[in-house]
Amino acid sequence: MGKYGRVTKKVLGRLKGIVGEENVFTVRDELEKYSCDEMPVPKRFMPEVVVKPENTVEVLKVLSLANKEKIPVTPRSGGTGLSGGSVPIHRGILLSLEKMNRIVEVDEENFVAVVEAGVTLLDLYKAVESKGLYYPLYPGELSACIGGNVATNAGGMRAVKYGVTRSFVLGLEAVLPIGEIIETGGKFVKFSSGYDLTQLLIGSEGTLAVITKAILRLTVKPKVRSVLLIPFKNVFDAIKTVPKILRCGITPVGVEFMEKDAIKIVEDYLGRRFPYGEAEAFLLTILEAGEESEAYKMAGKVADVCMENGAVDVLIPDTEKAKRELLEFREKLYPALKGFGEMDLADVVVPRSLIAHFVEAVKKVSEKYGIPIIVYGHAGDGNVHLHLYGDKKTRLKVLEEIYGLGKSMGGAISGEHGVGFEKKKFFLRFTDKKQIGLMKKIKRVFDPNNILNPGKIFG
Ligand code: LAC
Ligand code: ZN
Repeated sequence: MGKYGRVTKKVLGRLKGIVGEENVFTVRDELEKYSCDEMPVPKRFMPEVVVKPENTVEVLKVLSLANKEKIPVTPRSGGTGLSGGSVPIHRGILLSLEKMNRIVEVDEENFVAVVEAGVTLLDLYKAVESKGLYYPLYPGELSACIGGNVATNAGGMRAVKYGVTRSFVLGLEAVLPIGEIIETGGKFVKFSSGYDLTQLLIGSEGTLAVITKAILRLTVKPKVRSVLLIPFKNVFDAIKTVPKILRCGITPVGVEFMEKDAIKIVEDYLGRRFPYGEAEAFLLTILEAGEESEAYKMAGKVADVCMENGAVDVLIPDTEKAKRELLEFREKLYPALKGFGEMDLADVVVPRSLIAHFVEAVKKVSEKYGIPIIVYGHAGDGNVHLHLYGDKKTRLKVLEEIYGLGKSMGGAISGEHGVGFEKKKFFLRFTDKKQIGLMKKIKRVFDPNNILNPGKIFG
């Protein structure tokens, strides 16, 4: 910490000169808003100043100043992350991109949107859908911004069919702390021209550059979406059915998994009852099709597989309202559970064929340590969210075992939330040292003074 410069009066003056007095904040209330993210138990770190640039040149000037003065800079867009990636743990400048929220272009001919980092998912969806186009990525939190989505390589509930943020970013504009603006990729869908810097920046959690703009691939909005709610008598029947659905000859948009314990909490949160509330576990399968008859056939196939594998029933609502209400039970799980006491959240990913083994092993760890673990999430991606309750010391031991299990099955520490600072210890423990060494070298090339989001991922 000692090696960093501080935000002195002189620095404040320079910042005001760059972004205007109205975009520099030092009052406590304002600093506090940027001191944590949406982690289950927020850990607060107050920045010394919040700076809100309005364009890329201002970002460049702020970074150049910070680099010269060796002041830490934490980039942030929506602040809806779950691993502390946008939290200013070394204080310094909190660089909020919220005012860079312009949709620069929706290019209908190329199926591309060009947007600034502070554009929310909700605004992006509205802009592209008004033109009959579709941005399929759906991490679930509509106030999340593109900058943060790119920085964490956000996933969500449509990844089985569409992949994750990485699959949709064709190019980036980003500012390096050494005082350079780079434009990577472009409005094209193929690329074999040297190192792919776009992909390197995706998922780098604001440690290499500040992402200011993204070129996003769009597709056509599907005509029909069906949602199948499939209750099971027990957790294992449900989870074991997931790979069978994936192999039945259709590609669902997503296959989500939920347990009874989580449903009870979300029922209270939403103030309404869930169908089949008495079942132990549920799969929610989302399908998309070009027309009703195709959707009907697809749903029939999934329903058959589920009934052959221990499902109690298959509910297929036919009104848009009923579909939305079902999806909401899944989408509101995190906000509902978040208010439910002290906990840790893991988002381990394993090969999809091993998801049942993984969940089974997690349940055994939960029993062994006598702490409750609520499991839900993107079972179709091999990526589940685990909410661990109980005392902190035991939770840490359990986390260690769970990450170890995930790694031993060929998985990874985080499937979609990122490492931030929250999972750093486990990321370092379970990641190949040679690769960590390479990452550190790459970091030094982009950010020789280590001012950009220091202390994150491995820092
Ligand atoms: C979800 C968030 C927590 O899947 O990633 O609900
Ligand atoms: Zn998720």
